[in-house]
Amino acid sequence: MVLWRDNIKYMTTENEKVKTLDEAMKKIVELQAEIKKVKKQKKYGLVWEDKKEQIVEDCKRNVPILRLKEKKKGIEPVVTTEKTKDENILIEGDNYHALSVLNYTHKGKFKVIYADPPYNTGNKSWKYNNDYVEKDDAFKHSKWVSYIDNRLNLTKNLLTEDGIIIFAIDDYEAHTLRLLMDEVFGQDNRLGTAVVIHNPGGRQDEMFFATAHEYMLVYAKDREKASVGLLNYFEEKNKSYQYSDDVSTYKLREFRRSGANSRRTDRPNLWYPIYVNSKTLEISTFKNNKWDVVLPIDNDGTERVWRWNAKTLEEKKDTYINVKKYKDGYRFYVKERSVDYKGEKPKTIWFRPEYSAVNGTSALKEIFSENLDKIFDFPKSPFLMQDILSISGDSDCWVLDFFAGSGTTGHAVLELNKKDGGDRKFILCTNNENNICEEVTYERVTRVMKGYKNKKGEKVEGLGGNLRYYKTDLVDIEKLHRTPDHAKVKLTYQAGEMIGLRENTLNEVEKNEWWQIFEGNGKSTAIYFKEDKEKLLELVELLEKKKTPAVLYIFSWGKNEYKSEYSGANIRVEDIPEPILEVYKEINRL
Ligand SMILES: C[S@@+](CC[C@H](N)C(=O)[O-])C[C@H]1O[C@@H](n2cnc3c(N)ncnc32)[C@H](O)[C@@H]1O
Repeated sequence: MVLWRDNIKYMTTENEKVKTLDEAMKKIVELQAEIKKVKKQKKYGLVWEDKKEQIVEDCKRNVPILRLKEKKKGIEPVVTTEKTKDENILIEGDNYHALSVLNYTHKGKFKVIYADPPYNTGNKSWKYNNDYVEKDDAFKHSKWVSYIDNRLNLTKNLLTEDGIIIFAIDDYEAHTLRLLMDEVFGQDNRLGTAVVIHNPGGRQDEMFFATAHEYMLVYAKDREKASVGLLNYFEEKNKSYQYSDDVSTYKLREFRRSGANSRRTDRPNLWYPIYVNSKTLEISTFKNNKWDVVLPIDNDGTERVWRWNAKTLEEKKDTYINVKKYKDGYRFYVKERSVDYKGEKPKTIWFRPEYSAVNGTSALKEIFSENLDKIFDFPKSPFLMQDILSISGDSDCWVLDFFAGSGTTGHAVLELNKKDGGDRKFILCTNNENNICEEVTYERVTRVMKGYKNKKGEKVEGLGGNLRYYKTDLVDIEKLHRTPDHAKVKLTYQAGEMIGLRENTLNEVEKNEWWQIFEGNGKSTAIYFKEDKEKLLELVELLEKKKTPAVLYIFSWGKNEYKSEYSGANIRVEDIPEPILEVYKEINRL
């Protein structure tokens, strides 16, 4: 650092001070050389040519907001089948814009974020700056990484402290994505990389290997706070419970340990004698001279240990231990009971016939039986999505899918809620390429909520649930630098629906030149557009009369100007639009 004091230039580095200008200049040259060297050094991690993305550049001059989707033939932006339930949200638009909005409205809200991005296979599967990225594009990897990096960075603040983010990916970019996620979330927060067998037969038209799998990368915001749930394989396991008694069906497992960590020297406290009554086959860990003594020793003399310590054995022996007498002695077995099965840790290979991609397509065909043209390429299997959600989320969490495509995640949330009585909610974001959002995502989710006729013409009951359909839009704030006042007023007028969403008060009940009011969930949110204090007092009075909790967003040029003045028993005051601008400045590194 260079300092001026008493007209003398000093330069300090960590440990040294220099007093003359010459010395200082020499040091600067040395430091510059050092910086150059460090920059040239190879580092471990992902290096790519940062390709500017127009969508991201646009956000330096425009603020993304949400508007309720316009009503039109076949589209009702608000779908309600259950009055008491929260609304799920569908956002149409580029997910960079949607994620930017969510950084203002839903910070720290999502327990689960799922993403199934275009895999960059080079088959015109995705567009970058309005052009399809072709197989022979020299920068196709850099473009893809820039595109994912831009979005990935916007997800971090959206996760709850114990939140989990899951990416689906195949071989083309699995390794780059993993390095990128290591960088954004930290290697230590990588909870697992699982292989999902989505095409058990393998793609036989491939040159050397027939691809049968893709990957699932799972990261936590903070591994210390995260947990991964168990997967229930009961249906598959059920056959293995071959025995039964008054308590339940069960299978047997030897009580003497074998394999790793099973020697007496490994776990000395699990080495103890068991006394057996030779007639009744009763057992005890307490010494009994009339009963036979059994120690955990293999036929070849190897000293092993029991599965439980003596105290646990005493507590559980009546319900859980089966004793068998053979010519050469006794054997003890643990009854592994079906009633105790709670599931098992997800393995690194996910292999169930239901996870096959064909189930994704057939689920869509069931719903869109009358118009198979609407079928969407590569939807995920709804069974796979349900299992992903059940290991990563709670029964009442918020789930975000920002490459929602045909809406499988929304469908899986509704199915799971129906199965276990849960109250999970979802936000789906997708663009409207080839009208997917309107004709597939919206249509699928609302049909599943309301019920539909399947391929055979049978009526399928609706699963219930509510949906609100928004579209992203941009407010031009370029003028902010020239006529900041005008741009701030403009943004305040247009941010209403986004603020209503932030406060979970979604229904607009009033809008005039002075204010806008939203209601929902027993609360109100008011946005006051002007500076006139008289009218503001009128609005405060109106909110006080409602007696329900209210949030009042007051237009102000800066921050915290009115907080104490207008906060009341039922009113919380917030500023607008500065906090919105701050979020955007931060995420766009302006
Ligand atoms: C691989 S698909 C997701 C499929 C989905 N998991 C399902 O089961 O239907 C990716 C989807 O993301 C959409 N998409 C691609 N880039 C996007 C972007 N920048 N913003 C929003 N959606 C995007 C594509 O249109 C496509 O529908």
